[in-house]
Amino acid sequence: MAYQNILLETVERIAILTINRPDKRNALNQLTRDEILMALDELQNSESRVLVVTGAGDKAFIAGADIGEFEGRTVLTQRDVMKQRRIFDAVEEFPKPVIAMINGFCLGGGMEFALACDIRVAADSAKLGQPEINLGIIPGGGGTQRLTRLVGEGKAMELILTGDLIEAAEAKSLGIVNDVVPAAQLRERVLSLAGRIAEKSPIALRMAKEAVKSAARMNLREGLEHETDLFCLTFASEDKAEGVRAFFEKRKADYKGR
Ligand code: COA
Repeated sequence: MAYQNILLETVERIAILTINRPDKRNALNQLTRDEILMALDELQNSESRVLVVTGAGDKAFIAGADIGEFEGRTVLTQRDVMKQRRIFDAVEEFPKPVIAMINGFCLGGGMEFALACDIRVAADSAKLGQPEINLGIIPGGGGTQRLTRLVGEGKAMELILTGDLIEAAEAKSLGIVNDVVPAAQLRERVLSLAGRIAEKSPIALRMAKEAVKSAARMNLREGLEHETDLFCLTFASEDKAEGVRAFFEKRKADYKGR
């Protein structure tokens, strides 16, 4: 599929989706959001086992929604936009692990995109925040919910009410990003992490992602039951037989995703 605002590449079993509007700091306009959804559909059935999302250039991961599209929007037209399938939900529901490779400004909808991913790794030069309040609006892509679940109400409230940006190191200390690495090593470090995950059983990865994500949707009893169901389901896979056999044969498992 030919895209205008995103790039897709595959490195071994890792798909890399790059938002490619560096002149606009990779802000998410309608076409970009549509293309991201199309790419997720395309990648869902591809051979890739892990998805990495990043931004083009060295300045921004994603600087948020395209503010130009807010001009002239009314309550009703904005409601129509919000009824469309949403990239943040699509990323969260994507059946393979998604890693945000945060190479610069990660703001507003960009932060919400990263929060919907499963793992976040940031360059030491990255800056993160929810600056919507400075435009007289609030986060509308899950920021108030996912950030609060990740860092707790106090810090989420501070970031969202002030709109202040934080450095990557602070984001790590808050648990927003899993790791901070020198900018020059970001791609190599993320691909190494993605490569290690790509060696696992895709079925087990999918079940694990679903189980962990369900913790935010369910109470403990429901979550434990759901985990039990997913755990038992993995016993139906050839990958489980291969994983157990490989352990006893003292070799690396070769998972086929069946
Ligand atoms: N929407 C639309 N355009 C954006 C944008 C956004 N979210 N973020 C940046 N741009 C555009 C700028 O308007 C500018 O366009 P121009 O060259 O046509 O004037 C271009 O990208 C470069 O931005 P600039 O501000 O000059 O770059 P910078 O490196 O000095 O600063 C940011 C980068 C990200 C700090 C700054 O652009 C910014 O604050 N952006 C808005 C962030 C935001 O509020 N996001 C939440 C939206 S709800």
